[in-house]
Amino acid sequence: MKLVIAIIQPDKLEEVKEELYKAEINLLTVSEVLGHGRQKGITEVYRGHKETGNLLRKVRLEIAVNDHFLEPTIKAIVRGAKTGETGDGKIFILDLKECIRIRTEERGSTAIG
Ligand SMILES: Nc1ncnc2c1ncn2[C@@H]1O[C@H](COP(=O)(O)OP(=O)(O)OP(=O)(O)O)[C@@H](O)[C@H]1O
Ligand SMILES: [Mg+2]
Repeated sequence: MKLVIAIIQPDKLEEVKEELYKAEINLLTVSEVLGHGRQKGITEVYRGHKETGNLLRKVRLEIAVNDHFLEPTIKAIVRGAKTGETGDGKIFILDLKECIRIRTEERGSTAIG
């Protein structure tokens, strides 16, 4: 199992969600966060996302998937979020040790989807 963490532009959230649904990835967590990449937030002002100082408003997605869903998940996020401009975002992949559905106490692959 993997945990996919993606930081994207807030205005790309709807497109990323649509791409994820098309790929049958229907479970996700979304948070509003602040951050900057290697331009330290400076060159993204034109995109209209300037916030306090050089920290820019971003959206963070967390998606836990079985291994065979990893590549489809990455591809869906890229399809939805990529413009080719700086600040499009980043995807981090972590090994996920366990997942437990609280209601049923199922674990692992059964619990995840
Ligand atoms: N190494 C990192 N560690 C933690 N968060 C990061 C890292 N890189 C990027 N982020 C987060 O991802 C967001 C988007 O990053 P961004 O797309 O600007 O990356 P970048 O490396 O600067 O690439 P680009 O040159 O395409 O802009 C940042 O605002 C920040 O929140
Ligand atoms: Mg950047």
